[in-house]
Amino acid sequence: MEKLIQEHRKRFGEFEVIDFVDEEAAARLRGHLDVEVPLELHWTWNYGSEVQELRNLYEKGKVNQWNAETDLDWSIPMSKDEWVVSPEASMLAQITKLMGKDEATQKAAAFDEINYVLSQLLHGEQAALQLCGQLTNVCTKMDEKWYSASQVIDEARHIEAFAKLLERKMGTIYPIGATLKTLLDILLEAETAQKKTLGMQTLFEGMAVGIMDMLRSECRNPLLTETLRRVEQDEARHAAFGVLMMRRVVREAEPEQKHEMEDWAFSILEALNANQQLDMLHLLGPKYGIDPEQTARTFVSLPNFAELNSMAYMHTVVPNLRKLGLITERTEDRWRAVGMMVDSPAGVKGTPLPLVG
Ligand SMILES: [Fe+2]
Ligand SMILES: [Fe+2]
Repeated sequence: MEKLIQEHRKRFGEFEVIDFVDEEAAARLRGHLDVEVPLELHWTWNYGSEVQELRNLYEKGKVNQWNAETDLDWSIPMSKDEWVVSPEASMLAQITKLMGKDEATQKAAAFDEINYVLSQLLHGEQAALQLCGQLTNVCTKMDEKWYSASQVIDEARHIEAFAKLLERKMGTIYPIGATLKTLLDILLEAETAQKKTLGMQTLFEGMAVGIMDMLRSECRNPLLTETLRRVEQDEARHAAFGVLMMRRVVREAEPEQKHEMEDWAFSILEALNANQQLDMLHLLGPKYGIDPEQTARTFVSLPNFAELNSMAYMHTVVPNLRKLGLITERTEDRWRAVGMMVDSPAGVKGTPLPLVG
């Protein structure tokens, strides 16, 4: 199986990373604003409900709407002088502490790291908005079109919430990481509704739920906590759509098509994992005297690397793929080999998707 982003891969010991050391290549990717998308548009004359579980999800979305401007308390301050998350939750805070830097520097480093993570989530929200807009065209059933349309407004609200948080409270929107931009373009360019849904709702929104949930549990700023809580509630619905939609697709797929989906899912998340935060470390590390490559090398060679690294994957996306039959005996060793799957995950509270199962 061909791995993605071959041209930026190299080895750190046993582990193969994706490292955009060449900032020009990253800038070129970010500058690629007009993406050619092959899109099939389908009419349907069946206005009644054909997929009850999707109709239910659409109804749920309607009653759980919220307003990013009025439902969040924007008077709550947020600054580099506070711990926005607990020190243990920030890689940069931990490293600066080990380097003997003072607490003010550690707090600033944690703030910057969270600022970066939220910026990436914001860019991901924009991709979700555009992809769901595509789904309203490409999906064949009215229930799917209605659901996708409801997700479009959710994603617009998430962009609003994160952009306002970044602009009003954190002061910076960091550029999208090159690895993330590459992978999001692959999802947006995918030809079929099935691939788009697998890529966005199952893989990326499954990851987003994991990351947001883990971040929220370490969060010390009430505005950030509440923003994440509200966005996460919507995201759980979106990831549930991914599972419900893909469950039907997988059930109807030929073995060969199933293998293809299984391999594709792995290749997307393997590439995300292969970056090992190097895009972030190149941008923020030097400011604090942190060597990006050395940091990533140290992390991937830790004896408990897989246990730590797998947390975000084991939270939602890996259990969901397993239930869908898109991680099987044929492929699970690949997930283990790169530290995305372990038998007894650390700190995993179980899937937040009651709909799955
Ligand atoms: Fe979202
Ligand atoms: Fe979403």
